[in-house]
Amino acid sequence: RILIIDFGSQVTQLIARRVREAGVFSEVVPYDVGSDFIRDYAKDGSLKGVILSGGQNSVTDDDTPRVPQIVFELGVPVLGICYGMQAMADQLGGKVENGKVREFGYAEVRARNHTRLLEGIADFVTADGANMLKVWMSHGDKVTEIPPGFTVMLSNDSCPIAGMADESRKFYALQFHPEVTHTVQGKAIINRFVHDICGAKADWNMPDYVSEAIEAIRKKVGKDDVILGLSGGVDSSVAAALIHRAIGDQLTCVFVDHGLLRLNEGKMVMDMFAKNLGVKVIHVDASEQFMGQLAGVTDPEEKRKIIGREFVEVFQTEAGKIKNAKWLAQGTIYPDVIESAGKGKKGQTIKSHHNVGGLPDTLNLQLLEPLRELFKDEVRELGLALGLPREMVYRHPFPGPGLGVRILGEVKKQYADLLREADAIFIEELWNTPSDTVNDRGEAISWYDATSQAFAVFLPVKSVGVMGDGRTYEYVVALRAVQTQDFMTAHWAHLPHELLGRVSNRIINEVRGINRVVYDISGKPPATIEWE
Ligand code: XMP
Repeated sequence: RILIIDFGSQVTQLIARRVREAGVFSEVVPYDVGSDFIRDYAKDGSLKGVILSGGQNSVTDDDTPRVPQIVFELGVPVLGICYGMQAMADQLGGKVENGKVREFGYAEVRARNHTRLLEGIADFVTADGANMLKVWMSHGDKVTEIPPGFTVMLSNDSCPIAGMADESRKFYALQFHPEVTHTVQGKAIINRFVHDICGAKADWNMPDYVSEAIEAIRKKVGKDDVILGLSGGVDSSVAAALIHRAIGDQLTCVFVDHGLLRLNEGKMVMDMFAKNLGVKVIHVDASEQFMGQLAGVTDPEEKRKIIGREFVEVFQTEAGKIKNAKWLAQGTIYPDVIESAGKGKKGQTIKSHHNVGGLPDTLNLQLLEPLRELFKDEVRELGLALGLPREMVYRHPFPGPGLGVRILGEVKKQYADLLREADAIFIEELWNTPSDTVNDRGEAISWYDATSQAFAVFLPVKSVGVMGDGRTYEYVVALRAVQTQDFMTAHWAHLPHELLGRVSNRIINEVRGINRVVYDISGKPPATIEWE
């Protein structure tokens, strides 16, 4: 396996994903995990190499992060990327200077010496026989003197030391980002590092993972019973399918219907899990209780708190009835684990994200989190390997408070019913309309797959319309569709006008009570993805 030391770059997780795509298990830890952790981690010999991520700081400042010195003493190859390269240069006796201008965007760099890392890897070859790489740069500082033992590996006019190597110690460093797709040969470089230089075997694959994960779950829970809060979302669904495969009837799922689910969602979840897979699912219809508590409440944060609190209460009551349960299973995935470990992160809470599944520890249950090691795309792959349908595994994320944050202001059943219908029409049209993006087999993917999240929002204001000969005075629905990598920033999706027109016509014709449809063209920031 490969250890990635995180200096806070936005794209650190991409490094881990690229390494895993190369078939090698990799983990991300914050730069301040401590030497003991790293020493222990390397003890059994399975650690084959370390990658140092980028970051926003400057090593020319004294109090900025450094590489734990032990990394250079483990005897395994090290690859520094961007800030990782600068920290490496600084700590091993080179020099880093504050660049006067930031270099950001595409660049071409020239290979200077033959190194094992880059041998035979090039986008093109110059007339004088030099290998050239097209890369993505994003840095202010640069290395101006290489440490003893190193040679210059890459350079260009604005960055004379764009890469350096000490082949005897197998230390390599790149000023650009090989993990982003803009660096054309990035994948080849990462493959070369993990396989040829680190000698890591490509043994990280889904079929093996499934059998190992099943074994691990059986070993962990033994004959105990397990409870899982099923939400219909990808993570809890895949966790349920995996745990059921491992321990069958020892698993009981609790599916709380708060009345704020999408159209037919309850039935869909019950059909898939209870009927098709034979999982024990307790379906609790608590919609009246939720609606009652939400009556008259208009403040978004207040609504979230109520939904969160009621959810926990309902779940605890049901869980309390399962007498032999010793474990609470959750669909926590690897990015959640990294986020909560990365201390240095400034992340500000813009909205209190109540995740259904985030339960208090008063249940006295031990946590079972079988997806803790997986990235979202790996969770999806696992879901498919377990036989879950593609539509479920590739579903857009849906917030824990459900339609509660998509009905502006006070939540009423009448509003939720109208919204469900409008939303279903929008989603159906997105599914059925091919986009301008193709998959790796060259087929056009649907607009549903081409967007990261799409939904309708209910606006409790009435506007005047005309239908047939009559005047109408009815509610408004807003459509929202965004494209994003990480949901921290997002662009509004440029859906074709014909598609929007069709959705609008259908909603106004088919949903009685809606006479106007608008499209949200705000990015995040400054808007958020949800309206509340
Ligand atoms: P925003 O609206 O903050 O949303 O741009 C970012 C992502 O988070 C989801 N979201 C939530 N998920 N509980 C959740 O479980 C919440 O309260 C919540 N609020 C927003 C949102 O759907 C989007 O994917």
